[in-house]
Amino acid sequence: MKIIAVYSNKGGVGKTATSVNMAHLMAESGYRVLLCDLDPQGASSFYFKLKPSKHLGQDSFFTRDKKFKKSIQPSHYPNLDVVPAHHDFKDFDIFLASQRSGSKSLFKRRFKAVKDDYDIVILDCPPTLSALSDAVFRHCDELLTPVIPTTLSERTLEQLYQYFIAHDFDVARIHPFFSMVQKTKRLHVDTMHRMQKQYPAMLDAHVPFSSDVEKMGVTCAPVTDIGKGTAAAMYYRRLWREFAARVLSDQHAA
Ligand SMILES: Nc1ncnc2c1ncn2[C@@H]1O[C@H](COP(=O)(O)OP(=O)(O)O)[C@@H](O)[C@H]1O
Ligand SMILES: [Mg+2]
Repeated sequence: MKIIAVYSNKGGVGKTATSVNMAHLMAESGYRVLLCDLDPQGASSFYFKLKPSKHLGQDSFFTRDKKFKKSIQPSHYPNLDVVPAHHDFKDFDIFLASQRSGSKSLFKRRFKAVKDDYDIVILDCPPTLSALSDAVFRHCDELLTPVIPTTLSERTLEQLYQYFIAHDFDVARIHPFFSMVQKTKRLHVDTMHRMQKQYPAMLDAHVPFSSDVEKMGVTCAPVTDIGKGTAAAMYYRRLWREFAARVLSDQHAA
């Protein structure tokens, strides 16, 4: 089982859109996928029309295997289950920071409990640098990081690399890609050229700015499903193929 975190310490960069569409494509390719919505705003749960389990708070998420498993809900898609976010998830950091015996081992245990049920766990992360993100950085197998090609996002990615180096996390697990790209903007094109040279790990595939992705808020479905023929769906499919070839080389994406 692989744990893939969709993470950026910046909000509004396309983490949730990526989590939802990638989870759908992974499941469509035959992987058994669990999408875990760690952001208390619950956007990816919303896109799958799912409500949070009443009984899963921040402590029971980590400490109660049975409650955690009961909170898993099927989506409308084969092979794709979801742990919807609960508003109590906002206190994950306080809870994890208070666990002297190691928040990181709690995190590890949490996903061990479902290791025989899923091939991939995909984490839709909140944009924080915190006890939660430290546990994610330590225990996820890969980080998929959307970057809008602008100056501030560039700075954010640089900070993420510096944080990894300072805390001895493995930077090889960071897989950045450009998100919400507008090639009519000179700044986007120039930033992409520069960053592609600077970050060899940058995926070639990018996701353009697209109203079809924005419409997911109305359709409440992955654009890779309901907008199968759209350019946006095609770009997500490219991203998935490249990412899968890089990190799931034992099997391959459809
Ligand atoms: N490729 C895209 N093109 C246009 N709008 C997008 C795209 N990706 C995301 N959005 C929109 O931008 C906003 C933030 O995206 P979201 O995925 O929720 O970001 P995050 O999870 O990083 O906060 C949402 O309104 C979403 O619909
Ligand atoms: Mg989000």
